[in-house]
This record gives sequence, structure tokens and C-alpha cells, in this order.
Amino acid sequence: MSGLSWRIAEGADLAAISGLQKRSIEELQKPYLTPAQIESSKKTMGLDTQLIEDRTYFMIEADGAEGRAFAGCGGWGRRATLFGGSHSAGRSDAFLDPEKEPARIRAMYANPDFARRGVGKLLLALGELAASEEGFSHMTLGATLAGMPLYEAAGFKEVSRVDDAAGDGFNVPVITMEKPIDRDHAVRVIGDATGEPQARIIERLAAARSR
Ligand SMILES: CC(C)(COP(=O)(O)OP(=O)(O)OC[C@H]1O[C@@H](n2cnc3c(N)ncnc32)[C@H](O)[C@@H]1OP(=O)(O)O)[C@@H](O)C(=O)NCCC(=O)NCCS
Repeated sequence: MSGLSWRIAEGADLAAISGLQKRSIEELQKPYLTPAQIESSKKTMGLDTQLIEDRTYFMIEADGAEGRAFAGCGGWGRRATLFGGSHSAGRSDAFLDPEKEPARIRAMYANPDFARRGVGKLLLALGELAASEEGFSHMTLGATLAGMPLYEAAGFKEVSRVDDAAGDGFNVPVITMEKPIDRDHAVRVIGDATGEPQARIIERLAAARSR
């Protein structure tokens, strides 16, 4: 879909992000998980404020019934944490080595009112391009079952999975997936979705890094 726009998330967006993530977790996982599993999945999903501090988290807007609306959020990581919120176990803020380690795709959420309109695809491409700009050649992520169709469509391949990611017996899997970065493809996807010229996209990503 075209007509989407993006910007870097700010601290003032925290409440909106948290509200959207909750709705997304509860609605868009319904075809894949039982209600008890959805509750359990919250332990390994949600808001990671480090991404907002690092300025690697994106907000997507689209035309809604009442003007521009918050259609989704997601980002990428230059730190070792693979998935989860600030509250999740197993986090590491260690910086990755772009020459040896894959960048992380992190915390991808579509507003249920805007599902299947290209929000996830745009978020992935923004993370892919931003990681490429910092020298990464590969990306990895910890996928939910609801996320897998998006990632498979984008060329990610499963490398391993944990069957009970929260370790609480509800058996909510997290699937580790990887893909080489394709910078030109990412630029095209962002351009198609937003109408932005390549130079402007790259300039805005660089501005996020330098602040
Ligand atoms: C995963 C998620 C972010 C996808 O967002 P989205 O904006 O709906 O995805 P897109 O519209 O960009 O989808 C792009 C392509 O991915 C594939 N895809 C995405 N969601 C799909 C689904 N539910 N079923 C089948 N294919 C799907 C399709 O090929 C789609 O292209 P198409 O619509 O032209 O067929 C969204 O479902 C979500 O927020 N889920 C709940 C939270 C979650 O689990 N996040 C992932 C954490 S790892």
C-alpha cells in the first residue's frame, strides 16, 4: 500500500506505542494462539524502551477514518537482545559487531485496524536499510507465529526455534529467522510505500543516528 509515512519514535510516543502493542498482541495473534497462550506471550513481547533511546524504533502513519492514524511500530537493534520488552528475561545491551553479527529486527506491531496494508513490510524495509547504513550485512529476529508469514514473505528462513519461550508451560514458540540484507530492495519498498526519494530516506535515517 502507498500513502504510508514514517518517523523515529520519541519518548512522548511511549503511551501510544504501548497501547497499540497491547491491541496488536491481543487481536492479531488470535488465529495462532489460545487466549492463555496470548497472555503468556506478553512476557516475551511488548515495549523495549532501549530501542526508543537508541532512535532505532519507527512509527508508521496512514490515512484513517479521522485523518492520519498511528498504523504500526517496529524497529531494529544494534544490540544483542533478540526479542522481548524491557520486562523480558535474557536481555543484553551489548553492541553487535556489524562485520560478524546480524542486526536485530525488533518489536514489530501493526495496528489491527491497518493489518495487511503493508505496515509490517515497510517497517522491515526501514530496519533493513538503517542496519545496512551502519554496516550490517545480515538480519535476524525472534518471530512469533503471527509474525512468521510476514518474515517468510520477505525472505527470512528459520534457523531454530524455542517451543516454550516464556518457560511457563504454555508453549508459546519463538522462531529465530535470518536473511541477508538487500539494501536496494529495502529502498524500493520504502519508496513504493511512502513516495519518498532515496536520498531523503537516507538523510532522515542519518539524522536519527546523529542526534
Ligand atoms: C506481524 C505483523 C506485524 C504483520 O503486519 P502487517 O502490516 O499486517 O503485514 P503486511 O501487510 O506488511 O504484510 C506483508 C506480507 O506479509 C505476508 N503476511 C503478513 N501477515 C500475514 C498473515 N496474517 N497471513 C498471511 N500472510 C501474511 C503477506 O505476504 C503480506 O502481503 P499481502 O498482504 O500483499 O499478501 C502483524 O500481524 C502483527 O502486528 N502481529 C501481532 C504482533 C506480532 O506477532 N508481531 C511480530 C513479532 S515477531
